[in-house]
Amino acid sequence: MSGAEVPARVHIQEVVTRDGLQIEPRFLPTEQKIALIDALSDTGVAKIEVTSFVSPKAVPNLADAAEVARGIRRRPDVVYVALVPNLRGAQEAIAAGMDELNLVMSVSETHNLANMRMTPAQSLDGFRAITAAAAGSPARLNGSIATAFGCPFEGAQPEDKVLALAERYLEAGLHSVTLADTTGMANPRQVARLVAAFRARFGTVPLTLHFHNTRGMGLANALAALDAGADRLDASLGGIGGCPFAPGATGNISTEDLVHMLEEMGVPTGVDLGRLISLAQGLPARLGHDIPGQVAKAGRSGDLHPAPPGLCRTVP
Ligand code: COA
Ligand code: ZN
Repeated sequence: MSGAEVPARVHIQEVVTRDGLQIEPRFLPTEQKIALIDALSDTGVAKIEVTSFVSPKAVPNLADAAEVARGIRRRPDVVYVALVPNLRGAQEAIAAGMDELNLVMSVSETHNLANMRMTPAQSLDGFRAITAAAAGSPARLNGSIATAFGCPFEGAQPEDKVLALAERYLEAGLHSVTLADTTGMANPRQVARLVAAFRARFGTVPLTLHFHNTRGMGLANALAALDAGADRLDASLGGIGGCPFAPGATGNISTEDLVHMLEEMGVPTGVDLGRLISLAQGLPARLGHDIPGQVAKAGRSGDLHPAPPGLCRTVP
């Protein structure tokens, strides 16, 4: 990243209790979800995607959405978000007092059918109904474009198609857009092109990038996005997560790995990395398995080790 383009602050948006937990093999008890969100609220992250108001048959792990949304402690400096697929989910999220609704559909028709069981036109009709329903509420509306960098069923998605969908979102009354790399197919040059094209067409409309590290390109993509003018990144504690309706999906970029990289580069995030690492280190006990995130295991670059005893510092 060139120094001239460093944003004043990169907004770190934590998605572990939504994207992270939706694909876990077992249900994390409601009180543990609430405790994790409350602890994350004190790390300095800008946003927390708390849960999804979706069908409990589609995503059983998040069947306690309303209890979680109502049970968390709310800090005024953190934006609390819920993912919603349809009007019913939106109404429930608004009733639970969410600051922001994250409306999701895929640019790929096949993935939208697999994930949401709707055609793109049906999803967009639903978005318009949600905008109307949210009109009297303070909730902001973000629209996520899943498979924006490629679909596991259809392959590459034309840039024009992605931008045209973003245009539909804004016409429907949504306030901001997320470009999501649902199964880690993006590469850094593609990211730079799409972010630049988004900025050229939509100016200062708030833009989030959502990367999965499925093919090891996640942090490279994050840097490419920041260089191209993005300043909001989703990430998941421990690097867990993935879409249950996309074959081969694996975790998001890890929040602590991302914050560590940015901190080492001198890019401000406002996040307390030490707290984040401690929370990531607690995840394996909560989940019953190892996590992909690396800094929670390796420690920070600056965590030095004592030199081995008996080293001879003079050449004999
Ligand atoms: N919250 C809770 N339950 C909901 C719901 C919502 N927002 N929307 C629908 N349901 C319930 C219905 O009441 C129905 O329940 P029943 O079978 O007990 O009667 C069931 O879910 C199916 O409803 P239907 O309208 O027939 O929807 P569907 O089966 O076509 O599924 C979605 C459509 C969008 C509800 C479902 O595919 C879904 O929730 N997908 C989310 C996928 C996801 O979160 N993916 C990962 C994130 S990208
Ligand atoms: Zn995701």
